Amino acid sequence: MRQGLTASPKVLHPKYFYDERGSTLFDQICDTPEYYPTRVESELLSAHAAEILALASPDNILELGSGASRKSRLLLDRWQPSGDATYLPFDVSEEMLGSVAADLEKEYPHLAIHGLAGDYTAGLDHVPDPLGRTLWMFIGSTLGNFEPAEASAFVSEIAGRMDRGDSFLLGTDLHKDEAVLERAYNDAQGLTADFNLNVLAVINRELQANFQLDRFSHLAYYCEGRRRIEMHLVSEADQQVYLEALDLTVAFSAGERIRTEISRKFLTGEIREMLEDAGLTVTRSLVHESFPFALTLATKT
Ligand code: AVJ
Repeated sequence: MRQGLTASPKVLHPKYFYDERGSTLFDQICDTPEYYPTRVESELLSAHAAEILALASPDNILELGSGASRKSRLLLDRWQPSGDATYLPFDVSEEMLGSVAADLEKEYPHLAIHGLAGDYTAGLDHVPDPLGRTLWMFIGSTLGNFEPAEASAFVSEIAGRMDRGDSFLLGTDLHKDEAVLERAYNDAQGLTADFNLNVLAVINRELQANFQLDRFSHLAYYCEGRRRIEMHLVSEADQQVYLEALDLTVAFSAGERIRTEISRKFLTGEIREMLEDAGLTVTRSLVHESFPFALTLATKT
């Protein structure tokens, strides 16, 4: 946070959004009519769950960035493992993970649930090893939060951890009409704005800071050249903020921004290339017809 807030332009990593309130707000965003990615990816998952499970034929399903595991249930519902089977949700929000794991244990008594709480962008060292044949999942287009080089490195890290016969299911949003994209990040209820501003409340609590949330505003737009949504917080006035835990004063001029998230919108060719560069073989690519979004299945041979 010190690095980001003293950089020019100012920037914060999107992982900081997800305290308990941030995770709940994101969940609510997923139910808005404007935020199509969740709806569209769920449609793809429901329509093709049997096929994905048949191709991957997993003993375990490990999910990075599992959140509330709502979409994962679409697979878990149809999963009929032959022997002992484990679902491992890995998420940065420990609060969310705790309650989700308890619910899943009741809903899927035949599965072992093994929650992993932490920052998977810092590495996958805490993933238990060895696992049986595993379906690795990274859906919800969370990969879009990564810069291109980081995304390739992360996919390579996953591929490096996979054993032969494992599969990787990647969900990524695709480039599309700018108006559709911009609406998804500017919902009429203002939930995305609240979600964006919540990161300031996280900093206030975690670093004893004094951000005034009503002196910043939400800004989200599609940057066509880089094919990514950018979310920013715009300072509405000249102001100073003090972060006690860092003994840091941060000055903002009126109109100055903090970039809080990038959400890249991919081309199908880029996704294939990234997976193949990581040494994986693409076995299935599913693209939604009305709102381009891709679910890509790859294996390690
Ligand atoms: C969870 C990272 C995929 O980038 O679309 C939703 C987060 N940000 N609305 C995305 C988000 C604003 C979301 N991801």
